Amino acid sequence: MSEAEDFERCMAVGGVAVFPADTVYGLACDPDNRFAVERLYMLKRRSPRKPSAVMFFDLELALAAMPELGERTRAAMRRLLPGGLTLLLANPAGRFSLACGEDPATLGLRVPQVARLAGVKWPVLQSSANRAGAADARRLDDVPELMRRAADLVIDGGELPGTPSTVVDLRHYEQTGEWSVVREGAVSTAALAEALGGQFHFDPRTYLQMMRSEIPVFDRLQEEVAAASGTGASRILELGTGTGETARRLLERHARASLVGIDESGRMLAVARVALPAERVELRVSRLQDPLPEGPFDLVASALCVHHLPGAQKAELFARVGEVLAAGGRFVLADVVVPEDPRDALTPLSAGYDHPSPLPDQLAWLRELGFEARVTWTEVDLAVVAADLRR
Ligand SMILES: C[S@@+](CC[C@H](N)C(=O)[O-])C[C@H]1O[C@@H](n2cnc3c(N)ncnc32)[C@H](O)[C@@H]1O
Repeated sequence: MSEAEDFERCMAVGGVAVFPADTVYGLACDPDNRFAVERLYMLKRRSPRKPSAVMFFDLELALAAMPELGERTRAAMRRLLPGGLTLLLANPAGRFSLACGEDPATLGLRVPQVARLAGVKWPVLQSSANRAGAADARRLDDVPELMRRAADLVIDGGELPGTPSTVVDLRHYEQTGEWSVVREGAVSTAALAEALGGQFHFDPRTYLQMMRSEIPVFDRLQEEVAAASGTGASRILELGTGTGETARRLLERHARASLVGIDESGRMLAVARVALPAERVELRVSRLQDPLPEGPFDLVASALCVHHLPGAQKAELFARVGEVLAAGGRFVLADVVVPEDPRDALTPLSAGYDHPSPLPDQLAWLRELGFEARVTWTEVDLAVVAADLRR
């Protein structure tokens, strides 16, 4: 019997298997067998309230098992799979409820590339073969011995890449094209952006953690934005408020100011709405490319957002910022830039979503528009600019 047949048989009789996925070692069982699922969760010491993923070894079988998935999501899945991804999908029919933890409306789906299990016809419920909270198993020896002994089948796949799957939320992709990374892993955000059409959206749940890991000076940059904004502003416009990290610091510094914040992501703003003082803040879902809220503002600020526009659109945005700023008002721009020395390009970027420009170009565009622009802080490929409108 082949390994694939052994594996199928083990699932069919309600067994639990240790198996090599394309990322790390996993535990698998029949997703519809409550006893097998309970046993797998017990072996892992994982709370049954937490979800697992359902894994198919053939993409067509996965698509057939989820008939309610729309065409846009199916097309995205064909571009992305098989691979080291867990896709969070809308699950209105409540399929594979034993794998869904407390949220039967969401299903985590995996279609790995595992040659030795090619041909396996039935889906499995799977989770990584480590105790809850412990390190992932790259080699069979890394799987806890007790787990290996308790399993009904153990398949040795040698040394695996060792990085768990990237978890991508596609639940809103069908309607809006929105997607977000819930956990970074084996597949890069850049590769996802290419396959999903650049409609990347930050996930408010993981945003801060992701920014701090990608930009170690994230908090310093935020402090520098506040410092560059001067004192005593009364009406502030913020472009790309996100979850409110920049806005919070601006409101602290300008204690009597009100703030209008725009962002294209309603989900990010929903978090900002809770974090910021409601009586001082108005938040609008709007894009940088849309007409800006009516001025005059004495401060316009933006952190880590304007680089999402290509160069010409940045220059055009700066002109519109000039139109809503009061005479003598200040524009503070903090962003990732194209550094002079390519070795300084340290901030991870996503193709199709991030379009940084060189700092000298941005200073020139601002000066042409009548701004007196100076750099107040730089650190490798990050910069803060304070630009006062003289007219
Ligand atoms: C890196 S976050 C910065 C948020 C906040 N300023 C901070 O520093 O934490 C970038 C934000 O810009 C928003 N964004 C990206 N492109 C945008 C666009 N074209 N129009 C409006 N908002 C945009 C994203 O939704 C995200 O919330």
